[in-house]
Amino acid sequence: MSKSITDGKDFKLGLFSPNCSSGLAVTRIPERWSGSWEDNLRLARLADEAGIDFLLPIARWIGYGGETNFHEGVLDPTVFAAGLLAHTRRISVFATIHTAFNHPVVVAKQLATVDAIGQGRAGINIVAGWNQPEYEAFGVELPEGHDERYALAQEWWDVIRKIWTTPGRFDHEGTYYQLRNVEGLPKPHDGVLPVLNAGSSEQGRDFAARNADFAFTIVGGPEDGEAIAHRIHATARERYSRQVGAFTLSHVVCRPTRREAEDYLHYYADENADWNAVDNLMRLQGMHAQSFTPEMLRENRARFAAGHGSCPLIGTPDEVADRIEQFHRAGFGGMTLAFVDYVSELEYFAQEVLPRLEAKGIRAPR
Ligand SMILES: Cc1cc2nc3c(=O)[nH]c(=O)nc-3n(C[C@H](O)[C@H](O)[C@H](O)COP(=O)(O)O)c2cc1C
Repeated sequence: MSKSITDGKDFKLGLFSPNCSSGLAVTRIPERWSGSWEDNLRLARLADEAGIDFLLPIARWIGYGGETNFHEGVLDPTVFAAGLLAHTRRISVFATIHTAFNHPVVVAKQLATVDAIGQGRAGINIVAGWNQPEYEAFGVELPEGHDERYALAQEWWDVIRKIWTTPGRFDHEGTYYQLRNVEGLPKPHDGVLPVLNAGSSEQGRDFAARNADFAFTIVGGPEDGEAIAHRIHATARERYSRQVGAFTLSHVVCRPTRREAEDYLHYYADENADWNAVDNLMRLQGMHAQSFTPEMLRENRARFAAGHGSCPLIGTPDEVADRIEQFHRAGFGGMTLAFVDYVSELEYFAQEVLPRLEAKGIRAPR
């Protein structure tokens, strides 16, 4: 793969969830992120110029309720990727796709097309599924156990890989798909697209170790993250003789003084949090996903309001850059960022934090 995202060279930074209304902030403030096409286009151009490595949209079909119906407005990730790749030059854009709701023959064709638009800058984020109300909306049964969800995901991904790497036609005789005379052109630019996968259950980590370029994992911080990142690397090496990087996710409030950063965090994520939506989100996560440990769900209500349970990067540019350096040292290959106002806050981050990361030697200037 020729993409910079998988070159293994330095610490990668992405933007997570800008395609969703409110981004990752479960807040009622009127100036919360719109998630509109126009705002995403401005953001993608800015991120491309600033040297951010990738955009990662969320696939979401049902809002989480509460006063704002958090994640009510969502741009479809595959169409989002196609549109933004056409308007940018360097940045990678991932399409996030649920295995259970999308036929693999269709997905293989769509993503090869998206990758042609981006001339090799598309990626895929595979979601094996967890969110009961969305399964109900699709009229599909959520398999009780993780084994079956990931068995389906594996066969789904095997079909897509095969379409992308097999010349001519083939048949597929599997448990979930019986397909005759499948073929697919165009193929992606460089063989198989870069793959992200998020899953913290045993089966989810195994799936990432076997198939992904990067396992996306939720951690408390670099302190507990170090052992988790090492375990992800070791599982891929020992079970599948391959290399997998570890990414994690964060929400950022970066201001000239710590006081300003903390005041803003308090304003949007405490005083004005959409607590009913926070509780719905946490309840659904606790029921069917194992991405957050029971302790995280018990103790981290504030983190869910501020950034969907991701790690906080709150403080001055020096403090934020130091914290990112700690994730790098802990063995992470990159992380995602989310802001309340992605555009104006990314401008400040690019101006103040990126040069500090370059001075630390974590990232090369783009
Ligand atoms: C970075 C990241 C991105 C995710 N994107 C989505 C998404 O777009 N849509 C979704 O339904 N779930 C998404 N998830 C949730 C996971 O895919 C979820 O963790 C998984 O289905 C449950 O896996 P597990 O029980 O094996 O941990 C995401 C999780 C992470 C950490």
